[in-house]
Amino acid sequence: MASHAIEVKNLYKIFGPRGEDYVKLVEKGMGKAELNEKHGHVLGLQDINISMPGGCITVVMGLSGSGKSTLIRHINRLIDPTAGEVLYDGVDVCKMNENDLRSFRRHKTAMVFQKFALLPHRTVLENTIYGLEIQGIDRRESEKRALGWIDRVGLQGFEKHYPNQLSGGMQQRVGLARALTNDADILLMDEAYSALDPLIRVDMQSVLLELQKELKKTVVFITHDLDEALRLGDKIAILRDGHVVQQGTGQEIVLSPADDYITAFVQEVNRGRVINVETIMRPLSGNPEGLSLAAGTVLETAARTMTGAHISNAHVVDANGRPIGAIDLQMIISAMVTPVKHTDLQAA
Ligand SMILES: Nc1ncnc2c1ncn2[C@@H]1O[C@H](COP(=O)(O)OP(=O)(O)OP(=O)(O)O)[C@@H](O)[C@H]1O
Ligand SMILES: [Mg+2]
Repeated sequence: MASHAIEVKNLYKIFGPRGEDYVKLVEKGMGKAELNEKHGHVLGLQDINISMPGGCITVVMGLSGSGKSTLIRHINRLIDPTAGEVLYDGVDVCKMNENDLRSFRRHKTAMVFQKFALLPHRTVLENTIYGLEIQGIDRRESEKRALGWIDRVGLQGFEKHYPNQLSGGMQQRVGLARALTNDADILLMDEAYSALDPLIRVDMQSVLLELQKELKKTVVFITHDLDEALRLGDKIAILRDGHVVQQGTGQEIVLSPADDYITAFVQEVNRGRVINVETIMRPLSGNPEGLSLAAGTVLETAARTMTGAHISNAHVVDANGRPIGAIDLQMIISAMVTPVKHTDLQAA
């Protein structure tokens, strides 16, 4: 079975009339500022290598101008690369002919936009079936599918409303329903939630996570918000000036930030929501004691469970219920407040 993974390999994008001519210079170390000053070309992306596992949410993070949109737009080839490959199920999207590309875009990808991009004179239902209409799918069938998704994103009862009758969060739900109605494997979300009020934004993150449990799409989600990245990302890649400065799980990034730039980013993070019990557990000595906690439980949840049960010892169990380590409340609390270095843990 196809894994629906996306592999970005050695991808370069240099904006300007003769981008190809400068790939070599960039490979040799010419940076964005120098390329712009000396040659009047803009370094959009530089040697990007990211594998985005199928069925997972990969978050791309970075400051404004770091290349996030440029990267996501390569995935459905709204932008052609200067060099490199974007493989989907092993096929290079950048080499597809016009027909294959059209079919790939239409059937395999769906986009959710920050500005929703809803058609103002169409109702929620009509906006949601828009993609199916273009595909020429029978009206009864497309209505049935669209109504199902409108329901799933929590908009039942609003089918006949127009976008200007809805709040921002509700409009974003329509955008999501429209994308899902397409039944595409890949969901591309460029700052989809960045314009929403904080509480509504968290709400929409929950909607996505809830749906993703079952849908298992290959989601590429762009944000400049670390909390959002950590909450949503199975994997996170951080861009700066067009190159990847670090990629890994949220926990890996918080525990061992690659440089000062990322360290500054992660300082404010609530560590208890990111670090897992198995990261800080010690080897079992003797019989497993106290509560049993599933591997993958974050420290905050572990601490709450243990204090709730008035128990200060616990053991961690793997997916088969086999004890794999021990932990106590003191360890948890100190890991939640002191920055722990990954290297320290591995040495211990
Ligand atoms: N068509 C273009 N021509 C020239 N330069 C471009 C073009 N599109 C993007 N750029 C430049 O490429 C770099 C990356 O832009 P991009 O839009 O990908 O950044 P971003 O990370 O999405 O930023 P933001 O958070 O503001 O959306 C920027 O320096 C931008 O000015
Ligand atoms: Mg952008």
